[in-house]
Amino acid sequence: MTAIPNRKLIVAIDGPAGAGKSTIAARLARKLGYVNLETGAMYRALALKAIEWDVSFDDEAALAKLASDSRIQLEPTHSGNRVLLDGRDVTARVRETDVTEGASRVSVYPKVREWMVARQQEMGAGGGVVMEGRDIGTKVFPNADVKVFLDADPVVREQRRLQQQNLRGSEAEASVAELRERDRRDRTRAQSPLAAAPDALVLDSTSLSEDEVLQRVEDLVNRKLLQQN
Ligand code: DC
Repeated sequence: MTAIPNRKLIVAIDGPAGAGKSTIAARLARKLGYVNLETGAMYRALALKAIEWDVSFDDEAALAKLASDSRIQLEPTHSGNRVLLDGRDVTARVRETDVTEGASRVSVYPKVREWMVARQQEMGAGGGVVMEGRDIGTKVFPNADVKVFLDADPVVREQRRLQQQNLRGSEAEASVAELRERDRRDRTRAQSPLAAAPDALVLDSTSLSEDEVLQRVEDLVNRKLLQQN
């Protein structure tokens, strides 16, 4: 008798900026042999295109049209996702401050989100993905096999970001202000505000090490895989 291979799961990891989603999602995907998709990078790519094409962050219809005229691709690599905008590698550019702020602004619009969610559903439909973002467990894959909401104390999240970016003085202050504003916008927008799905495992990483967080998520994935057999 031939063994039936395990169905490849859809793992959703949501949470605010600085909670450690990217690191956990990348490590988990590597361990499982899955693909890690960072959906925030898609909102970032659209924000970059809006900057380049001089489309206002206040114009929902123009932003939605811009999205549907664009090709935004995520290519998983060993060191995170490569981001392609209309075939051009914009991986580093989309991490800059103006694009980061823009991503949070374009992501409030229902028409933009509709387009993004449809693309993300296509990308993850076959399973074998660890998809991270803000609305993966609530909106993109409400039936995801595993849902994790990763949170941490805002002060700790800010400190982690400052360390990652090696910022001090006025640059550090600006970065903290930007994170707070982005948090506020992500949590209060009308469409798919950042919130844990009712059936998500909520993990507060404030006083957990990265390894401890990863272990808990892995335990959950393993339980799910066992249930299939
Ligand atoms: O995860 P990130 O910091 O790269 O995300 C950039 C912005 O995109 C963030 O401020 C909110 C938005 N976003 C979203 O609304 N939904 C997602 N699934 C991912 C990101």
